[in-house]
Amino acid sequence: MYNFRFYVPTKIYFGKGEISHLAELKDYGSKVLLVYGGGSIRKNGIYDSAVKILGEAGLSVFELAGVEPNPKIETVRRGVGICKEEKVDMVLAIGGGSTIDCAKVVAAGAKYDGDPWDIVLDGTKAVTALPIFSVLTLSATGSEMDQFAVISDMTKNEKWGTAADCMKPTMSILDPTYTFSVSKKQTAAGTADMMSHTFENYFTKEKGVDVQARFAEGLLKTMIKYGPVALAQPDNYDARANLMWAASHAINGLIANGSQPAWCVHPMEHELSAFYDITHGQGLAILTPVWMKFVLKKDPTTAENFAVYGRNVWGIDDDDDQSAAEKAIECTRKFLFETMGLPANLRAVGITSDEHFEVMAEKAAKGSVGCFVPLTKDDIVEIFRAAF
Ligand code: NZQ
Ligand code: ZN
Repeated sequence: MYNFRFYVPTKIYFGKGEISHLAELKDYGSKVLLVYGGGSIRKNGIYDSAVKILGEAGLSVFELAGVEPNPKIETVRRGVGICKEEKVDMVLAIGGGSTIDCAKVVAAGAKYDGDPWDIVLDGTKAVTALPIFSVLTLSATGSEMDQFAVISDMTKNEKWGTAADCMKPTMSILDPTYTFSVSKKQTAAGTADMMSHTFENYFTKEKGVDVQARFAEGLLKTMIKYGPVALAQPDNYDARANLMWAASHAINGLIANGSQPAWCVHPMEHELSAFYDITHGQGLAILTPVWMKFVLKKDPTTAENFAVYGRNVWGIDDDDDQSAAEKAIECTRKFLFETMGLPANLRAVGITSDEHFEVMAEKAAKGSVGCFVPLTKDDIVEIFRAAF
């Protein structure tokens, strides 16, 4: 196990009605930028609750509305402009990962002299940020408790993840009832995303990271148990609560620290979104089983890893590593496509041509150096083609 620093400064208020803690924002100043997406929070009433609490706490509220899924740099720039003009003290995101990610770079951009795209390309440019708060409405990315933000510039077909300690939220409110209104499509995509975060950290060649591995298996079992329940019963509190808390831990360092894996499926998916603006979790679901099969074939020693996954997560009773590994991959494929109803190939999300695969693969290969099984540009093109 490598040395590591585990640092999660985010205060979490978890459970029904915890939004009342937004009143604590008054301790951080008097002007807040409220960041939200395309309007779901207005429909389900969270907007009204939040504005009332902030108003009663004496805070002036400025708004950055309309953050897109796969948030765009233009929206970030708009938010930075408001913060600088109005001398805003803090940023509050209410929404899913896209809204929280946008708010993070707005908060860092407000304290930065240049263009916020610089921060997207290089997280070290984010030295300090306005305090960031979030009310999570979609369980998936873990942005509510991590240092990452992913922003796109569609004029360049670029989507990059950045990271900085100062972008870790100061406080996040996780009320599972706020996710009752999440659509089946986004519930399934969110489950695929949190599972992928867990896989990216779990599949490592590093030995002796048992604590992290057993935590990861527990998270995966929880996601596999409750993803289908949330699909069938959107207002099942326990399902939504378990998914929410599992997603936060999949990416907050708990299961990554000590093995420090570079991620590989995410860089491939980010290229799909950069060129085709598809839903992140759907792209991951499509790529994951294909990637697993490819990796098992390219490096047969990974049979051991996939077999352990199959036995501990899926209860596969098979002593032979190769066949246990194959069964585990098949369980994963069936779960994502049959149980969760996620799109099974790239055509199903509207990617009908392979014209950009070479460029996308080149970028993804650079972004995944040091991952579980190293992938060349040609390997990635092959994975894209197998997912077609
Ligand atoms: O925009 P609104 O109207 O709010 O609607 C959203 C959006 O259309 C809707 N939604 C959210 N909460 C809802 C709801 N609809 C009804 N009821 C609710 N309670 O869901 C749609 C998708 O929202 P979005 O925020 O885009 O989804 P998600 O949370 O999956 O975020 C995806 C983004 O996060 C990035 C992805 O790349 C993508 O850009 N990621 C961020 C990471 C991080 N910060 O650590 C890591 C991830 O790997 C990921 O890359
Ligand atoms: Zn993700």
